[in-house]
Amino acid sequence: MDKLLIRGGRRLAGEIEIAGAKNAALPILCAGLLTADTIALSNVPKLQDVATIQKLLRQMGLSIEDKAGALALHGRDVTKLEAPYEMVKTMRASILVLGPLLARFGEAKVSLPGGCAIGSRPVDQHIKGLQAMGAEIRIEAGYIYAKAKRLKGARIVTDMITVTGTENLLMAATLADGVTVLENAAREPEVSDLANLLVAMGAKIEGIGSDRLLVTGVPELHGAAHAVIADRIETGTFLCAVAATGGDVTLKHTRADLLNAVIDKLRDAGAVLTSGQDWIRVQMSGRPKSVSFRTTEYPGFPTDMQAQLMALNCIAEGRSRVTETIFENRYMHVQELNRLGASIETDSHTAVVHGVSKLIGAPVMATDLRASASLVIAGLAAEGETLVDRIYHLDRGYDRMEVKLSAVGADIQRIR
Ligand code: EPU
Repeated sequence: MDKLLIRGGRRLAGEIEIAGAKNAALPILCAGLLTADTIALSNVPKLQDVATIQKLLRQMGLSIEDKAGALALHGRDVTKLEAPYEMVKTMRASILVLGPLLARFGEAKVSLPGGCAIGSRPVDQHIKGLQAMGAEIRIEAGYIYAKAKRLKGARIVTDMITVTGTENLLMAATLADGVTVLENAAREPEVSDLANLLVAMGAKIEGIGSDRLLVTGVPELHGAAHAVIADRIETGTFLCAVAATGGDVTLKHTRADLLNAVIDKLRDAGAVLTSGQDWIRVQMSGRPKSVSFRTTEYPGFPTDMQAQLMALNCIAEGRSRVTETIFENRYMHVQELNRLGASIETDSHTAVVHGVSKLIGAPVMATDLRASASLVIAGLAAEGETLVDRIYHLDRGYDRMEVKLSAVGADIQRIR
């Protein structure tokens, strides 16, 4: 199992290229199931999760050609309408094949995802929405069996805002008979990126970027070309790293307007941020100030940045309060941060961080993707050596993080 060895205390300076967004690429790849034509994709990040979804889609018969990083999906020969447990258990986003398969082929068999490290994460809203569109669904032996000759448009109000739930129902609605209204829809930029691809494929969608998506079904979708949106979470992670170590780094191929809530908090912490159309520069000197925050759906502060900003708060001046409202168990990094000398107490959804003047390196263990990123940030800021174990979690969602960080002056290496 790979580990990362970090010798902390180095200031970061230079440029980092941001990759395409994992959480946009995953639904977008699944949208390849919606048409027999070719979808040409660029800016697809090279990540473990992206490799996993490609493996699943190939098993189903979707052909995926990789031409120097640009992907061409051909959906002519999709025949296996099934996502087996072995795949879904390794990546919950596999549930995103359910909507497209059902809409185009009238049936699907998809394993129910289990719980995961950050919470129970049920998919009841995906199922409820598809049922409202006329699908017959039964759950048996851990599998969702779904059938519908042709889905019918419906008004669907989800009980909570769900990102992949919105994406699944949106894809299903594009090929349904009639009009579907998705109320309480997720407004995350990754949902809009998927919607923009679907429109390029011939879908009729109004209200993109809002919490009410109106979809008029069409008989079929056609091919299209699309560049995946920049990864706002990778962007935010590097911004936090620089704010924690001090330095001057420009992130390229990214967009400040995708992470206003994160940028505001980093400014409150003392970082100087400037941006242009496709870059963000962060400059930091001195000790950060503590910033309290609460995670909410977009455009609020993202749960996927909670652990990383908490790592910054660990070494900040003063005390901060962090409230996680999206997932019930997303504080697995707290104990590991405390092993590095942080002072964090948690009580249910709230964590109180008492900033300390320095962290001291230690061996720590990654528990999930964003928790791993917070340990890397803490390790970069800590005195001495930090060894981060189980970084396969990190590789699921960050493309060669250690290479990008080394290039701006971090002392970090992968140990195989
Ligand atoms: N929920 C339900 N029932 C449902 C769907 C969701 O109870 O049918 C609950 C969840 O348990 C959770 C809340 O609703 O408490 C929101 O979950 P959501 O469905 O929005 O999460 P998701 O779609 O499974 C995506 C991202 C996550 C990100 C969340 C929240 C992808 C592939 N994953 O998950 O990304 O944290 O939205 O923004 O888009 C990550 O990249 O590290 C990651 C975990």
